[in-house]
Amino acid sequence: MKYIFITGVNRGIGFFLTKELLKRGHSIIGTYRKASDNNYLQKLKSTFPKTLNLTCLDVKAIEEDELTRYLNSFKAVDILINNAGILDCGNVPFEKLQIDDLLHSIEVNTLGPMKITQLLLPKLSESANPRVFHMTSQMGSIADNQSGGYYFYRISKASLNMFNKSFSQDYPNIPSIVIHPGWVRTDMGGNHAPISPEIAAINISDLILTADNLSSGNFYNYKGEILPW
Ligand SMILES: NC(=O)c1ccc[n+]([C@@H]2O[C@H](COP(=O)([O-])OP(=O)(O)OC[C@H]3O[C@@H](n4cnc5c(N)ncnc54)[C@H](OP(=O)(O)O)[C@@H]3O)[C@@H](O)[C@H]2O)c1
Repeated sequence: MKYIFITGVNRGIGFFLTKELLKRGHSIIGTYRKASDNNYLQKLKSTFPKTLNLTCLDVKAIEEDELTRYLNSFKAVDILINNAGILDCGNVPFEKLQIDDLLHSIEVNTLGPMKITQLLLPKLSESANPRVFHMTSQMGSIADNQSGGYYFYRISKASLNMFNKSFSQDYPNIPSIVIHPGWVRTDMGGNHAPISPEIAAINISDLILTADNLSSGNFYNYKGEILPW
């Protein structure tokens, strides 16, 4: 059984990934942003009362001391999954963009995962086999950008990818990779996405739990194939 810390577990990929990993016998420390009246999450908690641990966390406004205190009730964290993210401003044409609003996407998609990784370092270091995964997007690939637009999302995910690369060089004992989960039917992915969140959760769980074959610092899709930067 591994102790797995996941952000944004109240809906979307984070929720189904949590459910899948619990079903596989792992212990989850899951975070959600808003004080929860989320029935699905409460129901999951009642099915897995001992292995689902929940705490409130806004990745844009992390109460660092509070999170550290909470983490101290766990001996170690084996796997960190920075999942929470936003797709802000959609495909607004460049001339209409409020450029300063980019900061919001950077705060949630880049600085949040960086801070959480930093705060979890002591607990990851206590694990015999620690791993870090960041949910990025193929839209953060510069090489793959053939349609333009989505400035805030693309820039914030490309920044996350670069953070991951540096971290992987600096912490060779904590392998870390960025994952593109595919185009998934969630609030963010929309109704036309071809992959259900249940299948995405199975794909990502398989990848994460067999990650010994993956090389740290790289950019993978959910099939374990390397994506271009
Ligand atoms: N769906 C896709 O096709 C797709 C493709 C590529 C990459 N991804 C990436 O996969 C991850 C999950 O996406 P998704 O499709 O599940 O998105 P989603 O359905 O929109 O869910 C986003 C999750 O992130 C949380 N979140 C947003 N802002 C937050 C904040 N400031 N603090 C804490 N939590 C926050 C949300 O919580 P609230 O309910 O409180 O807002 C929610 O739990 C994201 O990083 C996304 O970029 C998704």
